[in-house]
Amino acid sequence: MKNITIGLMLRISCLLAAAAASSWVQTITKGNKNITKFHFYVHNLDGGPKFPNTTVYGVANASITSTSPTNFGHIDVFDDRVTAEADINSEQVARVQGTAAYAGLQAFVIALNMNFYITSGEFNRSTLGMAGHITAADLLREVPMIGGTGAFRLARGYADSSIYSIDLATGYSVLEYKIYVIAHSDEVVWTGA
Ligand SMILES: *[C@@H]1O[C@H](CO)[C@@H](O)[C@H](O)[C@H]1NC(C)=O
Ligand SMILES: *[C@@H]1O[C@H](CO)[C@@H](O)[C@H](O)[C@H]1NC(C)=O
Ligand SMILES: *[C@@H]1O[C@H](CO)[C@@H](O)[C@H](O)[C@H]1NC(C)=O
Ligand SMILES: *[C@@H]1O[C@H](CO)[C@@H](O)[C@H](O)[C@H]1NC(C)=O
Repeated sequence: MKNITIGLMLRISCLLAAAAASSWVQTITKGNKNITKFHFYVHNLDGGPKFPNTTVYGVANASITSTSPTNFGHIDVFDDRVTAEADINSEQVARVQGTAAYAGLQAFVIALNMNFYITSGEFNRSTLGMAGHITAADLLREVPMIGGTGAFRLARGYADSSIYSIDLATGYSVLEYKIYVIAHSDEVVWTGA
């Protein structure tokens, strides 16, 4: 009886996981607008050069970084794997590539400049740009989506993110993201010759 229940629960969670994977990006249309929602996980491997799978490298420090309690002036550049499910070994759907500058003198604040580069599905090779302010202590971080290319030309919106899991020993954190963007792909940009 117990085994049957566990088997059933496993099957249900597999079905839910399959549904989640296929619906990591959803679009609804309202009038002349397409509203697209993305739900995904970012794998940030910040263990330093000693780990072969590191995806985040420090590229600069300021003269005060070593004495700053908030790491002020440090800049990281990253190229992180993005998956629809939380497991890093699940299918890659995108990469997030960019820089994170520690820009708070009083608190741990990151000035984020991140490109969301889709590598799968109907929006393959379209990009969305994200730039904004993150207070590291916030459980929910909100950052503006400032534009896009391909299917997301003239897009705008916002992204919410939170820490899904963190392993300090290996510097591995998983960030859960939801992005909401509005795009009008039929918007006329240029009517001249
Ligand atoms: C990254 O590599 C290290 C060392 O090879 C390994 O212990 C760790 O599990 C890897 N991390 C992930 C998330 O795959
Ligand atoms: C920045 O400073 C930290 C702490 O001293 C050091 O570990 C790191 O290598 C430095 N990074 C760069 C790019 O100079
Ligand atoms: C996405 O685009 C890349 C580069 O053009 C291509 O290699 C890959 O097969 C495409 N993937 C899908 C799912 O269309
Ligand atoms: C909305 O999305 C659909 C499917 O990707 C596309 O064919 C259509 O052109 C888009 N319309 C607008 C107004 O963006």
